[in-house]
Amino acid sequence: MTALPLISLRSVSRTYRTDGIAVTAVRNVSFDIAQGEIVAVMGPSGSGKSTLMNMIGLLDLPSEGAVHLEGANVAELSEDRRSSLRARSIGFVFQSYNLLARHNAIENVALPLVYCGVSRAERLARAERSLQAVGMLHRAHHFPRQLSGGEQQRVAIARALIASPLIVLADEPTGALDSRTGAEILALFAALNRTGQTIVMITHDPGIATQCRRTIRLHDGELVSDETVAELLPRRSVAS
Ligand SMILES: Nc1ncnc2c1ncn2[C@@H]1O[C@H](COP(=O)(O)OP(=O)(O)OP(=O)(O)O)[C@@H](O)[C@H]1O
Ligand SMILES: [Mg+2]
Repeated sequence: MTALPLISLRSVSRTYRTDGIAVTAVRNVSFDIAQGEIVAVMGPSGSGKSTLMNMIGLLDLPSEGAVHLEGANVAELSEDRRSSLRARSIGFVFQSYNLLARHNAIENVALPLVYCGVSRAERLARAERSLQAVGMLHRAHHFPRQLSGGEQQRVAIARALIASPLIVLADEPTGALDSRTGAEILALFAALNRTGQTIVMITHDPGIATQCRRTIRLHDGELVSDETVAELLPRRSVAS
């Protein structure tokens, strides 16, 4: 028996309509992602990467075609079911970290569990484990402004991991970081992937994409290539 793909897109298109003008941001895209994969999504600005990520992350639905998560067509779920599925199944990481400035690191990490009906004591215990997993437990009581960009992104990754999601979705997670810090964040993703975490990462950086075994490329909303390499290239050392 072959395992069901974790996520499957079939002939997915997304058209935005603004002031009577239609923009098809994603056009007829199909692919599967299996559990345990780490996938880079590349393409020029405006090629539909974030639109695609929003559909994989259950934040948006296709205009045409279907997205299945663990075999379920997400468009057939009620909005409430889709929201709770998103909270349990998807961990988001953004370029700009999106931490809440008035909350310290551990509170930021624990926040998603508020919507999962977990007690405060349990939330904090799990947030500690999540901070530990990204090497940030020693900064648990620091506020975002007291952390470097790379540290803030680690905290954001800990937050994405807190509900043990099926998939971590990262949109340009290294885009705001210098190359050394970006490489450290990438190494963290690679280490998480080695523990079995499925990761989909949008990136402009070819150096980052070469560290993922599989790369999906978009152009003008269309999938132009989907390649898996047998062997990863050895990591080039990164100058500071
Ligand atoms: N909410 C929206 N309403 C209308 N058009 C949109 C919306 N979001 C995106 N678009 C359009 O869809 C196209 C794809 O946008 P998208 O944000 O997915 O690209 P991207 O590949 O993520 O680009 P970038 O690398 O700059 O982040 C663009 O032409 C954009 O202007
Ligand atoms: Mg984008």
